[in-house]
Amino acid sequence: MLLEVRNLHASYGDAPALWDATLDVAAGQIVAVVGPNGAGKSTLINTIAGILRARKGEIRIDGADIAKIQSHRVCEHGIAIVPEGRRLFTHMTVLENLELGGWRADARALREGSLEKVLSLFPILKERRHQIAGSMSGGQQQMVAIGRALMARPRLLLMDEPSLGLSPAVVDDMFRIIRTINERGVAVLLVEQNIHKALEMAHHAYVIEQGRIVASGKPDTLLSNPRIREAYLGV
Ligand SMILES: Nc1ncnc2c1ncn2[C@@H]1O[C@H](COP(=O)(O)OP(=O)(O)OP(=O)(O)O)[C@@H](O)[C@H]1O
Ligand SMILES: [Mg+2]
Repeated sequence: MLLEVRNLHASYGDAPALWDATLDVAAGQIVAVVGPNGAGKSTLINTIAGILRARKGEIRIDGADIAKIQSHRVCEHGIAIVPEGRRLFTHMTVLENLELGGWRADARALREGSLEKVLSLFPILKERRHQIAGSMSGGQQQMVAIGRALMARPRLLLMDEPSLGLSPAVVDDMFRIIRTINERGVAVLLVEQNIHKALEMAHHAYVIEQGRIVASGKPDTLLSNPRIREAYLGV
């Protein structure tokens, strides 16, 4: 298994935010974690990325426990994150932002090829590579954030609400891009409030509420679960 999370607990100071989370991502899969505002989605993904430290539990990548390693070493295990709100260097150019994603020694050696791939995935970024990132549209900035993560050559891409704040047409583009990235061999752990879109493309999904994973399964199974239909689909 590419990613195995076992009984993961996380907290902010003394305030717990994630209890006993257990989930798997197989190589090549898209796995969605859906849940409402404040459910703990970012907490989960940031803990896997090493941005937050796990209180308890295990995070294994290809069997190696990464829960206790230093956060800057997590990327050495092939994990990259597209954080909530993108977190670009808005005063820097598109190209400078992308290059920052590929600083790690092994990624740096492949940087030219990676850049070519990213710019072919996002032709608009190629056109605007010298533009200041902060002056671009929300969708284009999200592309820069995704491109920056891809520059690290991840096997597992963690994405925190990539559709947030984007217009419906741009959201569709974003999900198409995620599918393309996945088809090129990158596993994706996708955290979303947009349950419809996320479940449409996921191979497997988890539902998180108030810091706990309360349901999991194939998207079709979850979509036919009466409680989930009522809570998330309003039917
Ligand atoms: N830096 C922080 N300090 C203290 N509490 C926090 C912090 N960040 C999040 N929390 C709390 O942890 C819980 C989970 O928050 P989290 O951001 O993980 O939710 P989320 O599912 O990502 O929500 P959203 O959909 O709004 O992004 C919430 O109760 C939130 O208030
Ligand atoms: Mg969040």
